[in-house]
Amino acid sequence: MNIIEVNHLMKQYGETEVLKGVNLAVRKGEVFGFIGHNGAGKSTFIHTITGIINKSSGNFNLLGVSDKYLNKVKSKIGVMPDVSNLYENMKGIQFLQYMGGLVGDNRSKEEYKSLMKDVGLEGMGKKKIKSYSFGMKKKICIAQALLGNPELIILDEPTSGLDPESAIKIRNLVAGLQKKGKTILLTSHNLDEIERISDRVGILSDGLIKKLGTPQQLKEKVDDGICIAVRTKPVLAKKDIQELSARLKIDVIFDEIKKGFSMLQVTSEEDIPTISKELIESGVHLYEIKVEHRSLEDVFMNA
Ligand SMILES: Nc1ncnc2c1ncn2[C@@H]1O[C@H](COP(=O)(O)OP(=O)(O)O)[C@@H](O)[C@H]1O
Ligand SMILES: [Mg+2]
Repeated sequence: MNIIEVNHLMKQYGETEVLKGVNLAVRKGEVFGFIGHNGAGKSTFIHTITGIINKSSGNFNLLGVSDKYLNKVKSKIGVMPDVSNLYENMKGIQFLQYMGGLVGDNRSKEEYKSLMKDVGLEGMGKKKIKSYSFGMKKKICIAQALLGNPELIILDEPTSGLDPESAIKIRNLVAGLQKKGKTILLTSHNLDEIERISDRVGILSDGLIKKLGTPQQLKEKVDDGICIAVRTKPVLAKKDIQELSARLKIDVIFDEIKKGFSMLQVTSEEDIPTISKELIESGVHLYEIKVEHRSLEDVFMNA
């Protein structure tokens, strides 16, 4: 069963189209990661499907219920939006109890404490939220999204800005929720982070999901080349690289000349010393050679 089903969802603000026809199906029990650069529309997507803002067109179902009747399923959905209104004068536990009361969560005080612990806020229950750090505020927003025992949990950037240890805690928390059969949609602008928790990842770019698959499937698509930048005199052009490639009998693909560097693609790291040796022996003056570490995200976004 699909817990989230989105068909050709569009959202525009004035003239600006942010979502241009997003299609997505998230299965029950799945952890689905939504990734995209800042401004890609991740929060807009979440706000739209949770009814915080109105869609422009398209439709969606959550937990089998059409968006026309979204109010009927809201109690089964826990949301941590990107910007939350925290009652900063409240103490941590007090806030969770108050918010829990609104959604009919009748757990005991001990259970609230244990929820604080689960999100990494042990011992902070009696402190006012205004004294919390950015990361702590984020964690209490995550705790708030879990109140009322929702079936579908939507977390907008739950780990961004958290220290590594806290991020691990949140990842474990997500894994624990999945074990209980919950469906989780979360966003991040960091692929390395999201691939650790998600069963499948969707890449939102230019208003559409450009790529979709398991982290492994998506990584395979980008792991098949190494990009190197070479600065030489004379500058190496496409024909020089073709000749070099033929002489060495290895695949070297010329990409472009960027800021005085010839950008090449090779298939193996072993090609790098082979190429530098050949260049020097052929009389080319080699000033710099470096591997361009493009993040996986960059590769995706530029795809
Ligand atoms: N209320 C709004 N009015 C106008 N434009 C908005 C509004 N909210 C977001 N946007 C624009 O929509 C785009 C997507 O934003 P957002 O969904 O917040 O992206 P993300 O969460 O991926 O960083 C951005 O260009 C942003 O400026
Ligand atoms: Mg956002």
